[in-house]
Amino acid sequence: MILVPGSNSLILTQKLSGICGSPIAEIENRRFSDNEIYLRIKSSLKGETCTVIHSTYSNDALTELFLLLDLVGDLGSGSITAVIPYMGYARQDKRFREGEALSAKTMLKIIDQFTDTIITLNCHFLNDSGELTFHGIKIRNLDAFPLLGKYFRDKTRDPVLIAPDKGAVNQVKKASNVMGCEFDYLEKTRISDHEVEFALKKLDVEAKDAIILDDMIATGGTVIEASRFLRSQGARTVSVGCVHGVFSEGIGKIRESVDELVCTDTINTKASRITVSDLIAKHLMS
Ligand code: R5P
Repeated sequence: MILVPGSNSLILTQKLSGICGSPIAEIENRRFSDNEIYLRIKSSLKGETCTVIHSTYSNDALTELFLLLDLVGDLGSGSITAVIPYMGYARQDKRFREGEALSAKTMLKIIDQFTDTIITLNCHFLNDSGELTFHGIKIRNLDAFPLLGKYFRDKTRDPVLIAPDKGAVNQVKKASNVMGCEFDYLEKTRISDHEVEFALKKLDVEAKDAIILDDMIATGGTVIEASRFLRSQGARTVSVGCVHGVFSEGIGKIRESVDELVCTDTINTKASRITVSDLIAKHLMS
């Protein structure tokens, strides 16, 4: 197997290479004067099992992924697996209002055209882990919530896990199995891209270490408001763990409102203290 890294996943690819013992393809990746992306793969991929690794948290990142996948095919690879640790455009998975683009489906249809296998982690539009199908396209969805549970297991005195909305409950339950602690959930209503509100609900968090776990943090609006809510109910500490730290508005305000903020390295950030490399490597080598 040869690993073909996109520019967003270079560090993760190095970790994977160390675990799997697979070489990393040599790539020239630069910009044309008008900022369009120039890619050239210098390694020979003829007949090779190729694994392209790239998180797509911007429009440029998606363009780079499409270019890479098509190029790997053009170079005569034997098979192509796309590992997309964080899959962007996954939150528009339904037509919430008539006439809206179904972005999650569109992006996936394009990726599917170029690949034999698609692997991702805690994909927003998939409610379970394993081999799943979305609009007829097969995806292997890996679950990093047990890793979040493992991280917090020995760090807290009296932990209680909190899902910030009902959608995260199943995943938070898996982390609570790892930690052997209670969990509960909040009832969230999204007001706007930046604002959420929580229904009044009495939680058993008094004098406890509350840990909010979510699949992703974008603006941080959800976890900042959830943290306020939990402190108002007497939580001793409030920590936050997420799989994908998108942090579209920076990390500063979120860090100020919680005792600890941690995420995985599906996106490389200042809070990436948990690696998903072993989890991905296990699936690539099975
Ligand atoms: C929503 O369903 C997700 O699980 C996250 O809670 C959400 O995407 C976080 O967004 P933000 O950080 O902008 O509140």
